[in-house]
Amino acid sequence: MDLKEAMQQRHMVRKYLDKKIPEDIVSKINGRIETNNKKYNLNMKLMLNNDTGVSSIIKLILARGVNNFIILAGDNSPDLEEKLGYSGADIMLYAQTLGLNTWWVGGTYNRGVSKYVDNKKVTGIIAIGYGQTQGVPHKSKTVEEVSKYKNTIIPSWFIAGVDAALLAPTALNKQDFMIIGNGNKVSIECDNGIFTGSNVGLIKYHFELGAGKENFEWE
Ligand SMILES: Cc1cc2nc3c(=O)[nH]c(=O)nc-3n(C[C@H](O)[C@H](O)[C@H](O)COP(=O)(O)O)c2cc1C
Repeated sequence: MDLKEAMQQRHMVRKYLDKKIPEDIVSKINGRIETNNKKYNLNMKLMLNNDTGVSSIIKLILARGVNNFIILAGDNSPDLEEKLGYSGADIMLYAQTLGLNTWWVGGTYNRGVSKYVDNKKVTGIIAIGYGQTQGVPHKSKTVEEVSKYKNTIIPSWFIAGVDAALLAPTALNKQDFMIIGNGNKVSIECDNGIFTGSNVGLIKYHFELGAGKENFEWE
C-alpha cells in the first residue's frame, strides 16, 4: 500500500486490540517522526505501552485499548499547529501503509502528557495501534462545496487534489474549508477556531498528495 492508497484506507479508529507493535515497525514509525521533527523543527514523540493518552471519561465512553500514541509537540510559534497538522498527516498515512490504525485527538486528549515533552507546546495526540476494526469512511462534502477554480477549464490535478483533501480528517468532520485555484496557484481558506492550523496542515498534505506538488504552488 502506498501513501495514496493509505489516504483511501485511513479512517478514525478509537478501539484497539491488545496487541503490541513489533519492534521493526516501531523503529520505522520513529524514523518517520524523526525525519519530520528535523525538517520542521518539531518535537513529536511516540509513547508505547502507555494508556494515559486520552482522558478517563473518553476511555469510559468512546475509546478502548489506546496504549500507544504520538504526542504532537513543538516550540510555540504562529505556524506550529499547521506544521504539526502537515507532519501528523504524513505519519498517520505512513502508519496506515504499515498496517496500523490511528485517531487524531485534538480536544479530548489528556493534558498531562505534556510532562513527556518538557517546555514544548502540545496540540494533541495521535492514538496508534492495531484497530478492532478498520473504521468507516467519514461523511463527506462534495468537490463543489469545498472548492472554487477561477478559470473555466478546471485542470484534473486540481480536482484530484480536492478529492484527496476531502479524505483528510478534520475536527468534528466539519470540512469547513474552501480551496481556491487560480492558474497554478492554490490557496486555502479555513476558519475552525482553535483547530484551524491543524486542519489546514492536514488538508495541505492531502491536497499535495492528490494533486502532485509539481503541478501547482501554494499562494
Ligand atoms: C484537529 C482535529 C481534532 C480532533 N479532535 C478530536 C477529539 O478531541 N476527539 C475525538 O474523538 N476525535 C477528534 N478528532 C477526530 C475527528 O473527529 C475525525 O478525524 C473526523 O470525524 C473525520 O473522520 P476520519 O478521521 O475517519 O476521516 C479530531 C480530528 C482533528 C483533525
